[in-house]
Amino acid sequence: MYKIIDKKVLNSTVEQMTILAPYVARKCEPGQFIILRVNEDGERIPLTIVDYDRDEESVTIIYQVVGYSTRQLSKKEIGDHVEDFVGPLGQPTHLQKHKRVLGIGGGVGIAPLYPQLKKLHEMGVEVDVILGGRSDEFIILEDEVKAFAENVYFATNDGSRGKEGFVTDVLKELLDEGNVYDEIIAIGPLVMMKAVVDVTKPLGIATGVSLNPVMIDGTGMCGGCRVTVGGETKFACVDGPDFDGLLVDFDECLRRQNMYKEEEHACRVGLGGENYA
Ligand SMILES: Cc1cc2nc3c(=O)[nH]c(=O)nc-3n(C[C@H](O)[C@H](O)[C@H](O)COP(=O)(O)OP(=O)(O)OC[C@H]3O[C@@H](n4cnc5c(N)ncnc54)[C@H](O)[C@@H]3O)c2cc1C
Ligand code: FES
Repeated sequence: MYKIIDKKVLNSTVEQMTILAPYVARKCEPGQFIILRVNEDGERIPLTIVDYDRDEESVTIIYQVVGYSTRQLSKKEIGDHVEDFVGPLGQPTHLQKHKRVLGIGGGVGIAPLYPQLKKLHEMGVEVDVILGGRSDEFIILEDEVKAFAENVYFATNDGSRGKEGFVTDVLKELLDEGNVYDEIIAIGPLVMMKAVVDVTKPLGIATGVSLNPVMIDGTGMCGGCRVTVGGETKFACVDGPDFDGLLVDFDECLRRQNMYKEEEHACRVGLGGENYA
């Protein structure tokens, strides 16, 4: 059992929790994730390690309440426990000591982006960031990112914060203005990451992405998280979740994501999760 020692509501659908998990806290690095089960009979939920405190032996996660299991997690409060908290899983991100990097985070994708950018800053890399969301309410971790970023730009679908439009609109402007980045790290919905790569690939700008296909065992055994990268089959749980975005077959990822949509909808019926469909 793993004790919840802090909980914050970040907006109407996103919450943050800090959980005592000594083994994970001792070993984890940016880019890695955990799989938790809320209860003994619960489903396994993969969530990125957003932050960790090795002295306190705690790990911070941020989750969007989208379906049954994340709704069960949301019912837990400080002092409660979760049944399992397995990790660190996946590969740490290969962060390079570049001169200048641009991070692009969409929606809850800002959560996995944050630990990577924070580490790059600690390595002496100059970091610019574009934060995007449906509206101002869905921009998370703004203060945390501002603590180290040189420049922070915003894009919202409804124009309630920053540029009205997509993160790629801001990206194109920055590149048109002559900004040079050694690497771009984009994390968010698949369509967003694909759109970023559509801009960066023709220009040959190195672009890292983080894939989150449906995961079941998280050990490379079930094949659920199969993705094609550079023509090779990879498993996001053990080979990723971070990959070279210029080599990812996004069209296949999108097809596989849509393949599960109907089943997930059917699974949620009667469990109360249909409200989040
Ligand atoms: C490596 C990795 C890291 C992730 N990190 C985060 C994070 O930091 N914050 C966050 O909010 N979400 C994260 N996710 C997605 C998160 O795991 C799912 O949103 C969660 O499992 C949904 O569970 P549910 O029962 O509430 O929803 P369900 O009703 O089961 O599904 C709702 C939606 O969640 C997605 N989903 C469901 N099960 C999985 C699964 N096993 N793997 C991936 N996606 C799934 C589906 O595409 C669906 O659209 C991550 C996923 C992966 C693979
Ligand atoms: S989750 Fe089973 S192979 Fe990756």
